[in-house]
Amino acid sequence: MNMAETKIKEDKVCIVGSGLIGRSFAMLFAASGYQVHLYDIQSSQVTDALSNIRSQLLDLERKGLLRGTLTVDQQHNCIQGATDLGKAIKGAWFVLECVPERLELKTSVYKNIEPFLEPTAILASSASALVPSLLSKDIKNRNRFIVVHPTNPPFYAPAVELIPAPWTDADVLTSTKNLCTEIGQVPVVLNKEIDGFVLNRIQYAIIGECWNIVKDGVMSPEDVDKVMSEGLGRRYAFMGPLETAYLNADGWLSYQERYAGMMDRVSSSFAPFPKIEGPTLQKIHDAFLEKIPIDQLDERRKWRDERLARLSKLKKDMDS
Ligand SMILES: NC(=O)c1ccc[n+]([C@@H]2O[C@H](COP(=O)([O-])OP(=O)(O)OC[C@H]3O[C@@H](n4cnc5c(N)ncnc54)[C@H](O)[C@@H]3O)[C@@H](O)[C@H]2O)c1
Repeated sequence: MNMAETKIKEDKVCIVGSGLIGRSFAMLFAASGYQVHLYDIQSSQVTDALSNIRSQLLDLERKGLLRGTLTVDQQHNCIQGATDLGKAIKGAWFVLECVPERLELKTSVYKNIEPFLEPTAILASSASALVPSLLSKDIKNRNRFIVVHPTNPPFYAPAVELIPAPWTDADVLTSTKNLCTEIGQVPVVLNKEIDGFVLNRIQYAIIGECWNIVKDGVMSPEDVDKVMSEGLGRRYAFMGPLETAYLNADGWLSYQERYAGMMDRVSSSFAPFPKIEGPTLQKIHDAFLEKIPIDQLDERRKWRDERLARLSKLKKDMDS
């Protein structure tokens, strides 16, 4: 987001589900001046979200990391809690569903939303893996449907996967892409549906290999994580694995000459994706439990989010 003055807009967006993802998106929209209506089936979740958002905004302000130019109060005032779904949806041009990842739950929520949707409104889902053709097949205006899969936490990790269904109108993708860019996200587009999308497919490939390495006793869980946080991940925060390889030789053709044989040999010893269960599960869980007791998860999430926010600032400063 550039530091041009942020204007408070009249455009209304609605978020259905005010959990981890819903509240983070509410902050993103509000930082760009959108009128956000935040609905949840549990009103206590909405109350909790509003107070959590205020304390996050105050914290960001203290650290000089607030987005855009609106004050904490202005951003917070852009978000209204809602307990009436119809009122929350009516007049919204963009509706983002953020309820738990269960197909039957999401489709039943769409049934409740549909009667109140403006005919041209975009209905988006923050689904992590459920493909849009499955989610939207029974929606009347299914041509207005798209999946907007964020990286958690969306406020601090901007990549967002956009996955249109085969029947999604082209302008839905364009408008969603523009909206995501406007609120400071970095949209990437899937040209066709695939189970788990791209982010989770890559993430699971990494987790699978980490798991097998721990299972085979090659390395401790803590050290495997350091390979990412102090090694590969340091580069990946700035460039992906494809560009990394490009730079590690003199371009991909030279990388192929030097390393393709080694890649073939090493990858032929990869075990299939492991079952996430048994003694390895306990071993990995215990390793982290020692470092982060379950009642200290929130503290550790804050620690993570602060570093992610500072990394975003560093990237922005270096790129400007
Ligand atoms: N948490 C993540 O790491 C992550 C990352 C990317 C995408 N997602 C996806 O985002 C979606 C939401 O995940 P989350 O982590 O925010 O879940 P969450 O459990 O934190 O929040 C879900 C919210 O939905 C509400 N809800 C449940 N049923 C509802 C209904 N019928 N109507 C309205 N609200 C309802 C719940 O009360 C809760 O507040 C899921 O599809 C998830 O897969 C999650």
